[in-house]
Amino acid sequence: MSSSPPLSGRVALVTGATRGIGRAAALALSAAGAHVIAVGRTQGALEDLDDEARAVGGEPVTLVPLDLTNGDGIDALGLEIFKRHGRLDILVHAAGILSGLRPVAHIPPKLWDTLLATNITAAYRLIRSLEPLLRASDASRAIFITAGAAARPTAFWGSFAATKAAVEALVRSWADETDSSSIRAILLDPGPVRTKLRAEAYPGEDVSTLTSPSALGPLFVELAGTADPGPPDQVVSFTSWAASGRSAAAPGTP
Ligand SMILES: NC(=O)c1ccc[n+]([C@@H]2O[C@H](COP(=O)([O-])OP(=O)(O)OC[C@H]3O[C@@H](n4cnc5c(N)ncnc54)[C@H](OP(=O)(O)O)[C@@H]3O)[C@@H](O)[C@H]2O)c1
Repeated sequence: MSSSPPLSGRVALVTGATRGIGRAAALALSAAGAHVIAVGRTQGALEDLDDEARAVGGEPVTLVPLDLTNGDGIDALGLEIFKRHGRLDILVHAAGILSGLRPVAHIPPKLWDTLLATNITAAYRLIRSLEPLLRASDASRAIFITAGAAARPTAFWGSFAATKAAVEALVRSWADETDSSSIRAILLDPGPVRTKLRAEAYPGEDVSTLTSPSALGPLFVELAGTADPGPPDQVVSFTSWAASGRSAAAPGTP
């Protein structure tokens, strides 16, 4: 008798699902039996995601074309999830932008505002809209993607590093507030991953040395499960996790 997939019946929301790390998370969660609600701005890429999820035997994906700088849109999404599912078991917030590297004094004010809106304010608006739904789950997991630059900012990375450090502070505060609830917040550092964002930071880099987004899939499934991940004072490192031998696919796997 075949056993049901590990995340069967779980409801997951994945942002940044049109490409890169978020897309890999959406595919892995769908293949593990979760019903994935996928958010991104690019409609065609969302449709491709649904096609691929079904092709590999995963659950059909609910597609939500949404710009996450639209806070009212995030509130409407939360209401819609409440109407359809009454709860949310898994959040993977992978949407994010780099918007180039430059000295802090050279950051154009408009770009700064866009970075904050996309990388910080969207995280706050998601928490604000989704906390009641996550509380309604018996064991919800909210995974936020951070980066090494948050703890180790270097020249020209100021704007990106500042937004990631802010997200870490926000998520740790929220985790403390929700400590006695069913919610467990998780900060995940994926390390260097072969994506559009990485290519923007390091054009011309030998991409064969980078982690494939799909290599992160098993870690997302593990973190989304009901095992207690512990307090988020430690950032979960994909590099350490892969080195521990629990990764199904090694870095560089297509
Ligand atoms: N790649 C790395 O080496 C690395 C390392 C450390 C941390 N990270 C973090 O990992 C996360 C994912 O990055 P990635 O490397 O996978 O980047 P990516 O391939 O460029 O993907 C970024 C995703 O964010 C979405 N997005 C951007 N702005 C949005 C907006 N305003 N509204 C809705 N969606 C938006 C994009 O979708 P649309 O354009 O379709 O909207 C896309 O799906 C980011 O938070 C990044 O900082 C990446």
